[in-house]
Amino acid sequence: MIPENTGPAAVIVLAAGAGTRMKSRTPKILHEIGGRSMVGHALLAARSVNPRQLAIVVRHERDLVAGHLADVDPAAVIVDQDDIPGTGRAVEVALQALDADQHLTGTVVVTYGDVPLLTGELLAELVATHERESNAVTVLTAVLDDATGYGRILRGEDGTVTGIREHKDSSEAERLIREVNSGIYAFDAAVLRDALAHVTTDNSQGEKYLTDVLGLARQAGGRVAAVVTADRWQVEGANDRVQLSALGAELNRRTVEAWMRSGVTVVDPATTWIDSSVTLDEDVRILPNTQLHGATTVARDAVVGPDTTLTDVTIGEGATVTRTHGSGAVIGARAAVGPFTYLRPGTVLGETGKIGAFYETKNVTIGRGSKLSHLGYAGDAEIGEDTNIGCGNITANYDGEKKHRTVIGSGVRTGSNTVFVAPVTVGDGAYSGAGAVIRKDVPAGALVLTVAAQRNTEGWVAANRPGTRSAELAQAATKDSSSTPASTEEGNQP
Ligand code: UD1
Ligand code: MG
Repeated sequence: MIPENTGPAAVIVLAAGAGTRMKSRTPKILHEIGGRSMVGHALLAARSVNPRQLAIVVRHERDLVAGHLADVDPAAVIVDQDDIPGTGRAVEVALQALDADQHLTGTVVVTYGDVPLLTGELLAELVATHERESNAVTVLTAVLDDATGYGRILRGEDGTVTGIREHKDSSEAERLIREVNSGIYAFDAAVLRDALAHVTTDNSQGEKYLTDVLGLARQAGGRVAAVVTADRWQVEGANDRVQLSALGAELNRRTVEAWMRSGVTVVDPATTWIDSSVTLDEDVRILPNTQLHGATTVARDAVVGPDTTLTDVTIGEGATVTRTHGSGAVIGARAAVGPFTYLRPGTVLGETGKIGAFYETKNVTIGRGSKLSHLGYAGDAEIGEDTNIGCGNITANYDGEKKHRTVIGSGVRTGSNTVFVAPVTVGDGAYSGAGAVIRKDVPAGALVLTVAAQRNTEGWVAANRPGTRSAELAQAATKDSSSTPASTEEGNQP
């Protein structure tokens, strides 16, 4: 039978460590960069090499981590590390768990849950080198200016890798070595299993070191080699929040650069933050100070920013979104949003529509070509096509206990400051006068007026506020026109 899967037998992701330097109630590997947890990044890289099995070793805050894993990679096998400490023990328990299912043969890859910039490409290169050279162990290494804290790569006269010495166990001479162990390896399953059985805790930290496997593999006659990466970011872990933000900034730099290379204009990469999960089409333009998060997608020729933060927003072709804060919204092709607009979940703006300055929207479907241009709130509503909502309109959707819907038809024109007291329906082509408070349904084509007729009481200021500046100016203005009636009333105009 030909195996369907051509990747390694397994990837084992180590994630049992405590991560105390984060000083956080959130487990270290659940901290996010680029809109995804560190372990989420690690699992994506691991999955991309197509392993037949994927195990993740947990211990610290085990239940919180397991809960997160159920969301990001429910197929991952969760393995609990016991009281014996060390990376070697972590791999040993994972191997035992996977072997219980089916005895592993072939390549077993080990990675860390807190190394988020490792790419699937580099991992695939490690696996390919390991298999091409028929190595017993292939370790991913990097040459650092400051190797403090890392395990050092020991090489013989001829340059072959002979082992790894932990920083704490190393001599002064060994500490001068700048080639370090990333902690990411490809092993032959049988070599790994046999060697781990012989690894002891006889070292300065009293741990079972995975690194001891290299020396043991060599003693058993296996070939040990290294893949040296020039890209140190790919092997860097985050131990504290300073490193977390440095990794986050580097990830963002890479993400933004990749989008620019695929045809997106980013005016200011330094102030543009794009989550790993965002997708952008060619010829999108991103203006400064823009953050795009979650499942946000932007279609061709759309312009986003400046000063815009969007989470899970879908933007159609050629739309413009200016100085906007939005989440869970859909913006149609050639529609316009902003400036100073707050889009809340459930906002759907049709093609060529507009939600203008100082508008808040939530749970509202706005038809093609309809415009809500200035100052208002639209929530729990449905608005038809080519409707113009006047300045300062509000859907009064909440009666203090329940939310109610407002339905406004197509071709409607509403006067400034119209209030829709939901539940209420306004028919197609209806008009409302300024200041209308609509409490009852309005039939199609009707004009709705709800404010009282205007009454002017002439001479009121002179009689009631004598001696004021207002009275003085009023007197000067009315000096010549003394024959007008004392009071007038007019009908409402829309
Ligand atoms: C380890 C390596 C070191 C390497 C460095 C790279 C060993 C003995 N040393 O050192 O050579 O340069 O990583 O960062 O392997 N973990 C477990 N269970 C444990 C201990 C650790 O799952 O019992 C996990 C941690 O969660 C972490 C990873 O293994 O993801 C590395 O653990 P850490 O304690 O950071 O190892 P280092 O001492 O830094
Ligand atoms: Mg470490």
